Amino acid sequence: MPDSLLRLLKQHDGFVSGEQLSRTLGISRAAVWKKIRALRSRGCVIESLPSRGYSLKKTPDLFGETLAEALRGSFWRDVRVLDSVDSTNDLCIEIAREGLPSGGLLLAADSQRKGKGRLGRVWASPGGMNVHMSLLFRPALPPRDAPMLTFLAAVAAAETLRALCGMPVEIKWPNDLLVGEKKLGGILTEVRSDPDRILFAVVGVGINVNMRRTALPSALRKTATSVRIETGRDFPRNDLIAALALGFERWLTVISGGGRDRLLDAWKGLSSTIGRDVEIRSGNEIITGNVQDIDENGLLVLRAYNGTVRKVSVGDVTQLRRTATP
Ligand code: BTN
Repeated sequence: MPDSLLRLLKQHDGFVSGEQLSRTLGISRAAVWKKIRALRSRGCVIESLPSRGYSLKKTPDLFGETLAEALRGSFWRDVRVLDSVDSTNDLCIEIAREGLPSGGLLLAADSQRKGKGRLGRVWASPGGMNVHMSLLFRPALPPRDAPMLTFLAAVAAAETLRALCGMPVEIKWPNDLLVGEKKLGGILTEVRSDPDRILFAVVGVGINVNMRRTALPSALRKTATSVRIETGRDFPRNDLIAALALGFERWLTVISGGGRDRLLDAWKGLSSTIGRDVEIRSGNEIITGNVQDIDENGLLVLRAYNGTVRKVSVGDVTQLRRTATP
């Protein structure tokens, strides 16, 4: 943990004296006090008693130092948490242009001013409640495998939300996280490639976590949801982000070792799209039919109502009804 005062406070269950902190850190008591004040101003709750010293009661639910600590030793060597950015994806792209970090970089922000969704949409990103994170890395994959990164993130996110929050999260092709028919989150993958390899990938994940129904933009109230709305509980964003990043790393190892079939099987097991009747807007075209499968490249395999089978690579899917299973 870069801030060693925080580490010392965390190591002590109860109080630790100002004198001990000053001695261990090799700084004056006044400097200790200044650092305590800085941590408090960032939302840490630190009790102080003249006779006993300081005791850390709470860190904010989204906090860089504790997130970095949770990911220590992982692929995510550079962990940054910011208050507000235009878009975590855009900032990662800027960082990559200036020189790629050697391992992976995880960037999370409390709020985004210009959060981006798929197909040029806006991603509502108010502060204090949701997960907005992007992962920047250089995958050892050919450019044709780039769509796998979206599938990978969707699987890692769905598995994390199921395990930590106990929610029946499903994936709507290609990138939506759903609970029932409502959208809980989404993924936006952006890659830069040359003909032979992906130069870098930015995988952005947005999840509505501690958002109350009243905080949802009114246009989204019928179609969107949050962990809070579904479970009635708040969840620490740090825990979700750390588990998701570790899950992402595990799946990245699987596909880098040739295990894309395993990933696609996991995706299919979590899919709410396969077997459904759908309407797909793809460019100017509207295609309707029943989804049979996704192929080895992640394309949607659709049996149109006229009986023809076709593959769809991009589009906006509306899921019509669940088809009864025989
Ligand atoms: C979608 O479902 O349309 C994708 C939404 C992706 C939103 C996330 S939030 C973090 C990252 N930064 C962005 O600007 N967008 C992605």
